[in-house]
Amino acid sequence: MPRKLFVTTALPYANGAFHIGHIMEYIQADVWVRFQRMQGHEVHFVGADDAHGAPIMLKAESEGITPQELVARIAADRPRYLQGFHLSFDHWHSTDSPENVELSQDIYRRLKAAGLIDSRPVEQFFDPVKGMFLADRYIKGECPKCHAKDQYGDACEVCGSVYAPTELIEPYSALSGARPELRTSEHFFFRLSDPRCVQFLKSWIDSPGRLQPQVANKAREWLEGKGDQHLADWDISRDAPYFGIPIPDAPGKYFYVWLDAPIGYLASFKSYCAKRGIDFEGFLQAPDTEQIHFIGKDIIYFHTLFWPAMLHFAGPPYRVPDHVFVHGFITVSGEKMSKSRGTGISPLRYLELGMNPEWLRYYIAAKLNGRVEDLDFNPDDFVARVNSDLVGKYVNIASRAAGFITKRFDGKLLPPDAGRPVATAQWTTLALEAEPRIRDFYEEREFGRAVREIMELADRMNEAIDREKPWELAKDPAQTERLHQVCSDCIHAFRQLTLFLAPILPKTAERAADMLGLATPLRWSQLREDPPLVIKPYQHLIQRVDPKQVDALFEPPESAAGKAGAAKASAAASTGQTKKAQNAVASKEGTVDEFISIDDFAKLDLRIAKVVQAEAVEGSDKLLKLTLDLGTQQRTVFSGIRSAYAPQDLVGRLVLMVANLAPRKMRFGVSEGMVLCASGEGPGIYLLSPDSGATPGMKVT
Ligand code: MSP
Ligand code: ZN
Repeated sequence: MPRKLFVTTALPYANGAFHIGHIMEYIQADVWVRFQRMQGHEVHFVGADDAHGAPIMLKAESEGITPQELVARIAADRPRYLQGFHLSFDHWHSTDSPENVELSQDIYRRLKAAGLIDSRPVEQFFDPVKGMFLADRYIKGECPKCHAKDQYGDACEVCGSVYAPTELIEPYSALSGARPELRTSEHFFFRLSDPRCVQFLKSWIDSPGRLQPQVANKAREWLEGKGDQHLADWDISRDAPYFGIPIPDAPGKYFYVWLDAPIGYLASFKSYCAKRGIDFEGFLQAPDTEQIHFIGKDIIYFHTLFWPAMLHFAGPPYRVPDHVFVHGFITVSGEKMSKSRGTGISPLRYLELGMNPEWLRYYIAAKLNGRVEDLDFNPDDFVARVNSDLVGKYVNIASRAAGFITKRFDGKLLPPDAGRPVATAQWTTLALEAEPRIRDFYEEREFGRAVREIMELADRMNEAIDREKPWELAKDPAQTERLHQVCSDCIHAFRQLTLFLAPILPKTAERAADMLGLATPLRWSQLREDPPLVIKPYQHLIQRVDPKQVDALFEPPESAAGKAGAAKASAAASTGQTKKAQNAVASKEGTVDEFISIDDFAKLDLRIAKVVQAEAVEGSDKLLKLTLDLGTQQRTVFSGIRSAYAPQDLVGRLVLMVANLAPRKMRFGVSEGMVLCASGEGPGIYLLSPDSGATPGMKVT
């Protein structure tokens, strides 16, 4: 019986690019989803950007753009990552969408009708300069316990004590510096303390198999509370100005972002259903539908208390989550990721360095299990693991045999036969005996154990090949039949290993399928079907990881940030800006604190250019020599981007250049302009490129 699965990953905040933590979550979900699709199940896999909330509103404001513009800019960047890592979402949407407004307001109205919404006055700090109420994190002051200065409104980072923002001594607004005033405003609450909610959540949490045991325990602890600490009602409203969804019949009030964020799962699904002609309500209400959310351990609270309660009391067609699958955090070389700087690994840089996304998919899968455990990316381990498993064990089996099949046997295989008298013949029995275990491991998200099982099979096969030594059989004409048997077994093994690994290595599996004559999309049932008996010539499937690439991934930010800063300053200098303006432009925060006139800006001749040639500069480890096509002319530009880009990857791509920068004589030649790059405090230099449709020579204004 095919299952009907509606699968989501947590919705990332739309105020920044994906970091490696996001990518890890998507890889986990994607492997599971691809496995389910191979089983023939109906899977709908959706994501979306979490667009609302004060931080996004304030960030947009600081950039002088609207929140919608900010969110659109972030959204435009998503496909590069999603495609880059072969993440097979069926749809990607936004919480700032008509579907989400409709669904959020509908769910709210139903909760209100059920008597689960209360309103009461709340006293809170208000910033009189910004004209807005301040969340705890935007209030600072002196810790009431240890008197450390500049502590946040909820907890002291020095002594660790927790308090209310109103207890701070000499509080000030982190946004304006103004002294906040206590003001009262009416807030709406979701009455989680209602006995109906508590009773429902208890049964939802306790329902066998719904949650991982550690997760259910956590949720139960929160629900039951300690001593007289009961589950508090949940404040779901925020006052204008706020980037969010208006609360019906409550002018100036908006839903708190965490109310509409999970509803965004449904909004994305609804928009996808409309596109695909699926009956949204019918699908959700079908008794055999499974609604599954993949999330990280930091947002269990929202997904095991608020979200199921909202859905349950809103009633049909909404359904409560059938599973919430929680993963731990990824660390890099044992270090936690900082919220602001991410980790040492930028997923985009990984792709830009030309590193194979399947290496990362494999490495992460090999370290994942079904529990809530953190996972460490260790660079040496990464290189060793990928090279020894994928290249040394898996691909090796094909590369040792395929040549003989093509050259000596016209591409033809003998059918598998466990009875023939060669060591490799045991393969079929071993593989089919392991198959149910591997399948269960995938199902349980025990990907590490699935991978171990698969690699053990590969080990057994490689040992059998070593015993048979096809390279020696090939030298003896009397052994031709034996050679054919052994090499056929190798290809059968390679085919089944490919099917086993397909959820993790989708692109390699596709290419291998082409060589093997396997019908795609690949199905798990092909493991037990009679295989095609003709193969195409083998082409190498997976390169080894070059440790130098991994080094480049970790290069310190110094080169990037320093150089970019200097480049920005020199661009400013050549356009005749004042010293002060230069400082403003190059300031560390990236905030421009002095304005230029439109005439100043018009002095810059910014153009779209196409890289027609790119080469490393001998004697410089920083520079690439670029030949740029500006439509009517060509320019030579020396650019300090060698650490981030391989020359061959640049040829053909469009970049932005400053075309009227005074030519500069350098040690290696004359540079006739500058290409524009982005860089931040972290590592990485990022070339800018236009949307598709732009052509060389176009003016950027
Ligand atoms: N916007 C909320 C989620 C709303 S869901 C209705 C949010 N966004 S987030 O961008 O901060 O995090 C998105 C997901 O990434 C979460 O599941 C979070 O746990 C996960 N991760 C964030 N850092 C992570 C790691 N270092 N490692 C693995 N996952 C991590 O929370
Ligand atoms: Zn303190």
